[in-house]
Amino acid sequence: MSSYAVTGSASGIGAAVTGRLRAAGHSVIEVDLHDADILADLGTPEGRSAAAAGVLERSGGVLDGAVLAAGIGPSPGPDRPRKIAQINQLGTVELLTALRPALSASGDARAVVFGSNSASVTPGVPRRVIRALRAGEIDRAVRTLRLFGPVAPNIAYAASKIAVTDWARRAAVTPAWAGAGIRLNVLAPGPVRTPLLNEELANPAAARAFRAFPIPVGGVGDPGHLADWVMMMLSPAAAFLCGSVIVVDGGSEAWLRAGEW
Ligand code: NAI
Repeated sequence: MSSYAVTGSASGIGAAVTGRLRAAGHSVIEVDLHDADILADLGTPEGRSAAAAGVLERSGGVLDGAVLAAGIGPSPGPDRPRKIAQINQLGTVELLTALRPALSASGDARAVVFGSNSASVTPGVPRRVIRALRAGEIDRAVRTLRLFGPVAPNIAYAASKIAVTDWARRAAVTPAWAGAGIRLNVLAPGPVRTPLLNEELANPAAARAFRAFPIPVGGVGDPGHLADWVMMMLSPAAAFLCGSVIVVDGGSEAWLRAGEW
């Protein structure tokens, strides 16, 4: 039996991962806003500290893996770009950084963070927003994002996923991660039928844009299917997988970007 921490465990893909891990006989420490072992708002520094302390206590300081699936989508809403940056980026990067010593203590651990194919298919994400997010300067990022008006949440979402992906790739190959036996990789889904996507599509403009979005295999992804990919990324098969971005999106990214190589 191995011990895993899963954020966003109460819903969607995180819930499917939690179910798969438990069914395989592993112990899971759930972190979410509700219906979880550890209730914490990963969008705040206090919530992240509480989540890290709770996971470290429950795991006894040794974790075989961490899956950082908590996140919010690009729905309209007050101050949404800021919340997207705080939850999707800081809630992933800062929590996982705090868990690194416990992963290192296992000697052969896995970490999976959630990117998105939005990171590579969203046009016009300004470099200066990504630079600000990378530096943890959320106010500076939000000032630029305001210029995007109604699509600011979409740009913020893509920027948060670019920042998280870039952080993971840089960290993964360092002595502190690869050298400590931790395989850190990114799963980048396309549209998956979860409450996050349902909330996004409740916005008529987003639903219209979505109907025009190419998904070559047809339809949207299933949370259980994405959870199967996470299980692979947590398995011994991932021993040679390091700093990789696994895009599971029904072909959208290939449709939009094939030929760029
Ligand atoms: P979901 O909405 O079904 O589940 C997300 C979970 O994160 C929820 O249980 C929610 O309570 C939790 N959460 C949100 N804010 C939180 C906070 N401040 N603190 C702690 N927990 C918080 O979403 P889904 O679709 O399962 O998303 C999982 C990951 O996959 C997210 O990072 C998302 O950005 C990513 N993703 C999802 C796609 C989709 O179409 N569903 C597409 C691409 C990426």
